Amino acid sequence: ATVEVLDRIEHLFQLSNDRLIDITRQFVEDYNLGLGEYNKAMAMIPTFVTGVPDGSEKGTFLALDLGGTNLRVCEVTLHGDKTFTLRQQKYKVSEELKTGEATRLFDYLADSVDAFLTEMGHEVTDVEALHLGLTFSFPVEQSALDKGVLLTWTKGFAARNAIGKDVVKLLQDAFDRKHLHVRCCALVNDTVGALLSRAYTSGGCFLGAIFGTGTNGAYVEDISKIKKLGDSTSLLGMSKMVVNTEWGAFNNSRSVLPSTPFDNKLDRESINPRFQAYEKFISGMYLGEITRNLLLNLVDASPPILFNGNSTPILNSHYGFDTAYMSDVENASNLDEVQKVIVERVGFKPEDVSLDDAKIVKWACHLVAARAAKLSGCAVASVLIQTGLAKLGGGSSSGDERFSVGVDGSLIQHYPNFEDGLRASLRVLVGSDVESRVDIGLAKDGSGVGAALCALQAVKQEKTLE
Ligand code: BG6
Ligand code: GLC
Repeated sequence: ATVEVLDRIEHLFQLSNDRLIDITRQFVEDYNLGLGEYNKAMAMIPTFVTGVPDGSEKGTFLALDLGGTNLRVCEVTLHGDKTFTLRQQKYKVSEELKTGEATRLFDYLADSVDAFLTEMGHEVTDVEALHLGLTFSFPVEQSALDKGVLLTWTKGFAARNAIGKDVVKLLQDAFDRKHLHVRCCALVNDTVGALLSRAYTSGGCFLGAIFGTGTNGAYVEDISKIKKLGDSTSLLGMSKMVVNTEWGAFNNSRSVLPSTPFDNKLDRESINPRFQAYEKFISGMYLGEITRNLLLNLVDASPPILFNGNSTPILNSHYGFDTAYMSDVENASNLDEVQKVIVERVGFKPEDVSLDDAKIVKWACHLVAARAAKLSGCAVASVLIQTGLAKLGGGSSSGDERFSVGVDGSLIQHYPNFEDGLRASLRVLVGSDVESRVDIGLAKDGSGVGAALCALQAVKQEKTLE
């Protein structure tokens, strides 16, 4: 009976090639809907970044980065030869700040910048304010490089009185309340940061993608295809613009995403049910919770299939089974080691975890993570197709061109074999020839460098207007 139950579950997590193709086709359709009109689920946000860097950019800027595992403040110096130096401090954002009044959160951001400047021994003079680029990794509808309203929170943030407000103003007001001589002159999503920084260090890049706490991608689009911008005169002469897709919100109706009861439970119990559907299948914030739901289902089976029907406070708590534990389980080289991970991380006594239990836990982690990796391939493939670099099902537009993707995030960096799974589905979707020409490279410190590059562009624009 155990084998039957496990087989049935395994079947729920399988993704056929046809399903991957359907998902990718839907992605491209949704991109075009979002480019045509505002207020679509796939937001396709114009970023007002109209070019990618080539590595020759120079200058020193501050960068503030909110929305990943850590809050970071950095000072970035671009040397103009594709290299940069960066000094940074990481700070924690408490649950209380994430869900309290927005002004308190922004005051905390300003305090962190203040603390950073003090630590770095910066003299903030009265003459010229320091320029800061804000990496704000949430959906923000931008109306200029330095202006944009928060559409919704994601990834467990829910601070009150921020949605619908200009986040640059919220931050600038906080700096001003503290009389900090710092000016926020550019706003950037982490995906855009990854794209720009990869372009800066490697000379070109068509997609910046994050596979971390959340997931999202930004790519370079023809302005003529961003129909919802209309005939904006300020863009005269520009042909390309970086678009932040907000692909985490793909297919909220779940018409093509393969929901299991474990996904449905996660969604129902989340703070944003029915939103960010794709992100909930893919990203670090959620994979552990899907796995926890699956494991508890086996604990509760009659007769029990796992841990002899026992659980622990960690396994019983919402989001108690962290995605990092899955990665430890998958990294373990044998079942004895898996057993150890379960004992250490989940709080069982050694005698309560059998080798069979270890085997099932490993199987469960792999099912959930392998599905995430394959689904991630759909997003990357869809951008290759949207930009005309590849065709769905295979065949490419030109010979030996290479396609550079800048990535960042805890999953792609640390989860074993995540990139392999992503590439396997890319091969299905765009063919081995194109897949072998996709260079996936870490956009190291991408958010900081990207924010600095945007701040530089903003300062240049201001100078031309003066
Ligand atoms: C970091 C960036 O390197 O990667 C963040 O500085 C970004 O801006 C993050 O959001 C994504 O990874 P994670 O795993 O921290 O969400
Ligand atoms: C969430 C945010 C998005 C961000 C992504 C990765 O999906 O909405 O803006 O880019 O997480 O951090």
